[in-house]
Amino acid sequence: MPALATFEERLSVWTTATMKLVFGFENSEVHLGVAPTNNDKFGDYQCNAAMELARTLKKAPRQIAQEFVDKAELPDFVEKIDIAGPGFINFTLSNAALSEHIEALEKDAFLGVEQSGQGKTVVIDYSSPNVAKPMHIGHIRSTVIGNAIDRLYRFLGYNVIADNHLGDWGTQFGLMMVGYRSFLDEDALKASPVEELERVYVASYNKSKEDDTWRDKAKAELVKLQQGDAENRALWETFIELSIKEFNTIYDRLDVKFDLYRGESFYNDRLPIMIKSLEDKGLAKESDGALIVDLEEDGMPICIVRKSDGGYNYATTDLATVEARIEEFNPERIVYVTDERQQLHFNQFFTIADKLGFDANLVHVWFGLMRLPEATFSTREGNVIKLASLLDEAEDRALEMVKSSSPDMPEDQQKDLAKAIGIGAIKYTDLSQNPQSLVTFTWEKALNMEGNSGPYLQYAYARISSVSDKHQALYPDIDLTKYSINIEHQIERRLAIKLSRFPAAIQIAADNYRPNILADYLYDLAQIYSSFYQNVPFLKAEKGVRESRIRLCRSAAATLKQGLNLLGIETRERI
Ligand code: ARG
Repeated sequence: MPALATFEERLSVWTTATMKLVFGFENSEVHLGVAPTNNDKFGDYQCNAAMELARTLKKAPRQIAQEFVDKAELPDFVEKIDIAGPGFINFTLSNAALSEHIEALEKDAFLGVEQSGQGKTVVIDYSSPNVAKPMHIGHIRSTVIGNAIDRLYRFLGYNVIADNHLGDWGTQFGLMMVGYRSFLDEDALKASPVEELERVYVASYNKSKEDDTWRDKAKAELVKLQQGDAENRALWETFIELSIKEFNTIYDRLDVKFDLYRGESFYNDRLPIMIKSLEDKGLAKESDGALIVDLEEDGMPICIVRKSDGGYNYATTDLATVEARIEEFNPERIVYVTDERQQLHFNQFFTIADKLGFDANLVHVWFGLMRLPEATFSTREGNVIKLASLLDEAEDRALEMVKSSSPDMPEDQQKDLAKAIGIGAIKYTDLSQNPQSLVTFTWEKALNMEGNSGPYLQYAYARISSVSDKHQALYPDIDLTKYSINIEHQIERRLAIKLSRFPAAIQIAADNYRPNILADYLYDLAQIYSSFYQNVPFLKAEKGVRESRIRLCRSAAATLKQGLNLLGIETRERI
């Protein structure tokens, strides 16, 4: 067991071994789990093994539990064991073990989180907007959710490759080129490049609807681009460069970093080879001039891998990309983060990848759309919002809050704080809900100081930090490490138990690709801390007790800070 094994792990191992001993069964398959209780009147952990074993042992669960309790020799970290209801076995941890555990967590750089990802690589494909088009709400959610998953996996010790799979190839570039050469407004391009590129594209597209020569011209330019014509190639590169530059300003504001920006075009050379392997393996067949993979057996519609005009499809590129990623990185898994509308696409190409025998665990993490109040954001085409103005507004609103709560703070500090709070509020709104549910964004909720929000947690963190700063100011000569943590009070126990469950929250959030599990954990932690703070004296407590509480308080601060950081949310010591 790892050095800092959780109480849950230690109890599960002990319960399994002891059950075998007490009842003399040998089945090595049996693993009896324990789970945290949700109310401490049932102790700290609960085991339902007596119910599970009733059949095997041919005894009533209550009787099994009783026999177990009578015969078992308690491990030293358990204070009390008792039986509840039909045969639940409840464990109460000893205060000494809890105190010792918190001291150990305090010293651990990972706060007790096991480095379960060590030696494993995971590719996370997220954000992935399309060149020359503004990011839509789906890309924004993909950026925020994908980045939280990225941070969680890195924290677990995985070698994470964050890959921004830009949509930088496709038939739209023919129309873009002719549009750019005819309709471009240089000033608009300077002011807002991606917006202008899109405008040019839309104008060109509309013209192509009515004008056949225009359409043919666009097609000819596309062919030239595909054949590597230097001029068209250079223009295409300009589109990419301008787009990435603008996307990067957003990533910078969101503190999101990618290891790779490999667009779809990166895999172009592999596409004919991919088609050939699909044909060689008998997976693809001709249909009306196109090449398709029939997925009827798998309950899905056919997947076109080469169109009748010879062009390749989204799925073809994704298959080639999987192959390239396996060759280069040998990842344990590849995670894709997109909105729910792409579920069929991922199901299809995952199934084909499987048929091709690709050896990687492919995971599609999808999320629902976020509903934005029409009046709040400038919207175009339904769900396209200008992200930059959303972030500006968040920072402006946060600045108002900071100015009224800390009027005496120097202005640059107010601004810095407003930035952390505004961006944190947006991210937390996105991350604190089950990604698959429909989220309605409101400023009231995002910036609510009393409720489950980013700013609430940032304030909680600052309040916790200030307690330990006050202690430092009052007792500058006291070396906290010379005092031990002694958990006694009920509310201290609650806080300590919550802190000891941080590793489980991280692991569950990562395993399920659900940052909201971590968000829930942090919100609970902040609430428990605040009742701890209100119910026991800190600075006024007697010497020793005071230092123990300050240490506990610092552990809570460290955990909150680390947890928020994993959600990509910044903290400040002073608010
Ligand atoms: N560019 C795509 C879009 O905007 C998302 C790409 C997601 N990643 C992938 N490997 N398919 O819809």
